[in-house]
Amino acid sequence: MIKVKDRKLLLLPGDGIGPEVVREVRKIIEWFNKNKSLDFKIEEGLVGGASYDKHKTPITDEVFYKALESEAVILGAVGGPKYDNLEFSKRPERALLKLRKELKLFANLRPAICFKQLVDASSLKPEIISGLDIMIVRELTGGIYFGEPRGIEPIENNERKGINTHTYTTNEIQRVARVAFDLAKKRKNKVTSCEKSNVMEAGILWREEVQSLKDKEYKKIELEHMLADNCAMQLLRNPKQFDVIVTDNLFGDILSDEAAMLTGSLGLLPSASLGARDKNGKTRSMYEPVHGSAPDIAGKNIANPIATILSLSMALKYSLDLDKEAEQIDKAVQSVLDDGLRTKDIMSKNMKEVSTSDMGDAIISKLK
Ligand code: IPM
Ligand code: MG
Repeated sequence: MIKVKDRKLLLLPGDGIGPEVVREVRKIIEWFNKNKSLDFKIEEGLVGGASYDKHKTPITDEVFYKALESEAVILGAVGGPKYDNLEFSKRPERALLKLRKELKLFANLRPAICFKQLVDASSLKPEIISGLDIMIVRELTGGIYFGEPRGIEPIENNERKGINTHTYTTNEIQRVARVAFDLAKKRKNKVTSCEKSNVMEAGILWREEVQSLKDKEYKKIELEHMLADNCAMQLLRNPKQFDVIVTDNLFGDILSDEAAMLTGSLGLLPSASLGARDKNGKTRSMYEPVHGSAPDIAGKNIANPIATILSLSMALKYSLDLDKEAEQIDKAVQSVLDDGLRTKDIMSKNMKEVSTSDMGDAIISKLK
């Protein structure tokens, strides 16, 4: 088998359950190195609260440059109650936002898939969610998360004013819409674009620019515009009407949590954050589980590592052209679920409860 040199993967375990779930990913990468001669170079770094504890900053320059140089970054999770009272610029989330912004990862892909083995874990009726497969494309480097002016300032009467600014340009809207249209082409050819054009000018612009891109370049795709609040409602009423949803940073944050939870599979959902392709067809990228740091169950070896393992699979597929290996991981995950193995978060009657590391080992035992 050919050895491809210099496939650098940077693991950033972070906080809470991050280190435990990333440990299982590391085991899988090492399995591929040993058994498939894939020759990944694994590096690891501190991020979030873990970095703050040691270096008094949520991400050091050294780790940031490592991220710039790697083929793909796999991040566990950041944050936890211990850091809630830190000054804004030191908070664990700043590391995540810096990586997204400076690596220019403008497209965040968050699949909401209902695993057939977990249909009963959803709070919705099985017929509403079985077979659900939605892709949410969230804009990740613009909008109110990064807009200027921002801040908290004193005003008259000893009061204060908090300011954040929601802005989008044509280019910011169309480049993320393009990602959504391209994905839809490989799926069911339908894109739903969400904004609040009934109250926000930036929402009107969003709607017009998405439409104009479609009219020019994606005539065959079915495009529907929906107000974001209606989308939140439709996700609960009839989620299977959606194929690809494209929306801004803030609405995407909220709608993707909603979509993830309604699948009943939060512990199983991965995500990819992608930048533009360069001349060589390469793109910067970061992969993360959709669930957070879950500090309440951290360190107990009970967290579900599957979302992070599937994030590795997305990395192999979207960043490293290793579709076959990605598929092997996906199949191994399906197979352990078919065997009835469950971590605590998805445990149900007659299934076998396993720990984080047992789940990782079981998945590895299914790899060929
Ligand atoms: C997410 C998270 C982050 C966000 C936080 C941790 C900054 O909620 O990735 O969805 O708001 O984007
Ligand atoms: Mg979120």
